[in-house]
Amino acid sequence: MRDKGRSRKAVLSELKKILAQNIAYEDGRILCSMCTAPHSIARTAHSWFLSANLGDAGLFPGSLKLEKEAIQQLAAVLNGENSVGFIVSGGTEANLLALWAAREMAGARNPEVILPESAHFSFKKICRLLGLTPVYAGLDGAYRVKPSIVERCITRNTVAIVGTAGTTELGMIDPIEKLSDIAVTHGVYLHVDAAFGGLVIPFLRELGYAAEEFDFGLEGVKSITVDPHKMGMTPIPAGGILFRDSTFLEHIKTETPYLTEECQYTFAGTRSGASAAAAWAVFEHLGREGFRKNVRRCMLLTWFLSSQLEALGFSLVAKPQLNIVAFKAADAKQLCEKLRRQGWFASYIPRLDCIRIVVMPHLKRRHAIEFLKDLSRIAQADAEASKP
Ligand SMILES: Cc1ncc(COP(=O)(O)O)c(C=O)c1O
Repeated sequence: MRDKGRSRKAVLSELKKILAQNIAYEDGRILCSMCTAPHSIARTAHSWFLSANLGDAGLFPGSLKLEKEAIQQLAAVLNGENSVGFIVSGGTEANLLALWAAREMAGARNPEVILPESAHFSFKKICRLLGLTPVYAGLDGAYRVKPSIVERCITRNTVAIVGTAGTTELGMIDPIEKLSDIAVTHGVYLHVDAAFGGLVIPFLRELGYAAEEFDFGLEGVKSITVDPHKMGMTPIPAGGILFRDSTFLEHIKTETPYLTEECQYTFAGTRSGASAAAAWAVFEHLGREGFRKNVRRCMLLTWFLSSQLEALGFSLVAKPQLNIVAFKAADAKQLCEKLRRQGWFASYIPRLDCIRIVVMPHLKRRHAIEFLKDLSRIAQADAEASKP
């Protein structure tokens, strides 16, 4: 740190220059992220509640009320009549809290968790932190976990089964209803990672599109991750963890002797009240109708992109269930690199050797058209170059 500070003007002007080095979501060039430009009302709410610390909520009862209400709004969308939960730092912390509760409840000596092969990498971190052995269950031809394999993986050490509603790579929805039946039959905890899909699937269903059940309406589902900082258009960090009811909280409770509240249930101690306020503001402002509109727009663009990619001769890895498109190419990794040099940030997925696009609210039809033009130009040049 410098000894003598610089003027506010000088600092802000340098910050502005540095900010320009970042890629803005609004430019429509970020095709690889599950985050997006925060809604304008979320920006305002976030700035108003910046100093509120939900880790010491007795000082900030207004913020606590907003967090409770934001969780209740999510619970209503996820059929969680008695659900309780928290706005946390993201999907990773939410998944951690769920598996922590599951491990504590089971009390197994050599705890194991059954994960789909498509599970998010956050579970690798969580297994290491919680001393859980991951047991991976294979997928079917549609990239969804196979319930029969999951059932075969259950042992007396199993503390939880995880299903994903909206996989990170392809946006697939695991057969949660079947996983729920298995969980109930064997008395095992089922956690649903709907970090991405939790604010898409309910609205797709309301719009009349086919999407399977995945929420607390299913008896076996004990907890759900759903992130406002993904399809909820809330500034980062804003994850969400919901438990079926308050009995689960006992297992992750830590006493906080010198604070204004007696205990905490989150991993983070000091945590942002701004995130809860921003999520609350988006939910109140958009309502279900606004979310339906948003989801519909993203899905229409997903289908447009899919059909145009196929028309250009690319094959889709799978028919999109949510707003994610993945396609194969002759040399997908190199093509992704070339696209990046043209300023398009799609992701290359090594496991599937494909290129993936997440169709977030910041993407507009004009961006998709520009992208397809560049993609087609690069592919044609490659085809020419490979002619003998
Ligand atoms: C399905 C799923 N779960 C969990 C996570 C982790 O979320 P975060 O990066 O907010 O910790 C992601 C991130 O993309 C995800 O797609």
